[in-house]
Amino acid sequence: MTTNNSLIQSPEAIEKMRVAGKLASDVLVMLDEHVKVGVTTEALNQIAHDYIVNVQQAIPAPLNYHGFPKSICTSVNHVVCHGIPDENKVLKEGDIINIDVTVIKDGYYGDTSKMWIIGEGSIMAKRICDVAQKALYAGMSAVKDGAYLGDIGAAIQAVVEPERFSIVREFCGHGISNSFHHEPQVLHYGKKGTGMQLKTGMTFTIEPMINQGTWKTKILPDQWTAITKDRKLSAQWEHTMVVTDNGCEVFTTRPEEDLSFLTT
Ligand code: MF3
Ligand code: CO
Ligand code: CO
Repeated sequence: MTTNNSLIQSPEAIEKMRVAGKLASDVLVMLDEHVKVGVTTEALNQIAHDYIVNVQQAIPAPLNYHGFPKSICTSVNHVVCHGIPDENKVLKEGDIINIDVTVIKDGYYGDTSKMWIIGEGSIMAKRICDVAQKALYAGMSAVKDGAYLGDIGAAIQAVVEPERFSIVREFCGHGISNSFHHEPQVLHYGKKGTGMQLKTGMTFTIEPMINQGTWKTKILPDQWTAITKDRKLSAQWEHTMVVTDNGCEVFTTRPEEDLSFLTT
């Protein structure tokens, strides 16, 4: 497979993605104090929606996207992704939750997610959340001009498989710019030196979903919520980035993150 030049963003588009990415990460930072025992996932949705619309004057991309009914995704415990905020879903001690935020600003998208552990959390909860973040970081470390998409997946596998966790196959990272999901598909498993070659100016997400047991998922009757088939835990972290000559620039970095291991 060869590089598709239409995926390379202009400097003007990249600047808009910096802005959108910062807004998306700001929402996760803003939500932090609200993510605690007793809150409902619908309350978190309302707080995020109001902040995106009224403070950021941006658009929550999930709302009405292919019929998705809410402004963020909230995926608790065995929910892999695309969990729908629900006024009856109350966070309790020991839960793990992924909140996935995508905003549109000036026509461009920023997409990012992170995990929280509610209260103390089990050793397993801490370990799966930690391994999923390390998997994202390993994938990001493989990105640079001339690298292959398969290098990203291979780097993620090298972190996850020694931990005896599994990598979800049915969902992947994606190109993102002035549309939410476009080429390329960024698989979270693969072989070094295979697939599309990355080129400076390509923008995409990496968002590995890591399961405690089987990688297999199923979709609930609501047609959105993806859960693990064995109902064991799942964790995911996501960033949006652009390929640079020697690495990548991450658009959705939060202040608490140390991404100094990356090159640009
Ligand atoms: N933010 C998700 C992603 O990382 C997509 C959510 S689509 C929705 O690609 F419709 F479920 F919101
Ligand atoms: Co995404
Ligand atoms: Co996302």
